[in-house]
Amino acid sequence: MNAGFALRALTPADPADWPLWRDARTAALADAPYAFKVRLADWSAGGEEQWRARFARVDALHVVAVAADGRPVGLAGGVPGDGVSELRSVWVGPGARGQGVGDRLIAAVEAWARLRGSAALRLAVLPGNTAAVALYRRHGFVETGPPEGPDRAEGPDGTAERVMVKRLTG
Ligand SMILES: CC(C)(COP(=O)(O)OP(=O)(O)OC[C@H]1O[C@@H](n2cnc3c(N)ncnc32)[C@H](O)[C@@H]1OP(=O)(O)O)[C@@H](O)C(=O)NCCC(=O)NCCS
Repeated sequence: MNAGFALRALTPADPADWPLWRDARTAALADAPYAFKVRLADWSAGGEEQWRARFARVDALHVVAVAADGRPVGLAGGVPGDGVSELRSVWVGPGARGQGVGDRLIAAVEAWARLRGSAALRLAVLPGNTAAVALYRRHGFVETGPPEGPDRAEGPDGTAERVMVKRLTG
C-alpha cells in the first residue's frame, strides 16, 4: 500500500469489479490513444463484449490501482499463453505518473506469471512510447524486434510495434 493508491486484483465474479475495470480501461483509451492498438471507438463496435469476455477469464489477471477516493488511477493485465504470459493494457493516469504506480502494476503481473510457472513475460509497445519503454527496461524487459502476423501493429511513422520479453526462469 502506497500513501496515494492501493492495488486491487479484480475478480470476475464480483459484480463491482467489471465496472471498475471498464472505467479504468476507457479512461486509459481516452487519455493515451497513442499507446494502444484498440481505440475508444471500438468499445461501441463490439469491443465491450470482447473485453468483457476477456475479463471473465478466470485464468487472466486484472489489476487496478485505486486512489483513496475510489477512482482507478492505473491498470494492468496478465494473459496466459503457451508457456509465456503476456503483460497487457498498462496505464497510469496522468496525475499519478512518476510515483511508482507503473512499477507496482508490473511487479504484480510478474508475480502472477511466476506463480503460473511462466517461462517469460512478453509485451508489445508501440513506437515512440519512450516513457513505457524506459519503465519496461528498468524492469528487465529486453527488446526482441517486431512481431509478424495478424497482431502486427504500426505506429504513426509506419514502424512496427516492439516486442519486449523478460525471462522468468533459467
Ligand atoms: C508508461 C506509464 C505506464 C509509466 O507509468 P509511471 O507509473 O509514471 O511509471 P514511472 O514512474 O516509472 O515512470 C516511467 C517513465 O515515465 C516518465 N515519467 C515519469 N514521471 C512522469 C510524469 N509525471 N509524467 C509523464 N511521464 C513521466 C519517465 O520517462 C519515466 O522513466 P524514467 O524512470 O526512466 O525517468 C505511464 O506514463 C502511462 O500510462 N502512459 C500512457 C499509457 C502507456 O503508454 N501505456 C503503456 C502501453 S505499452
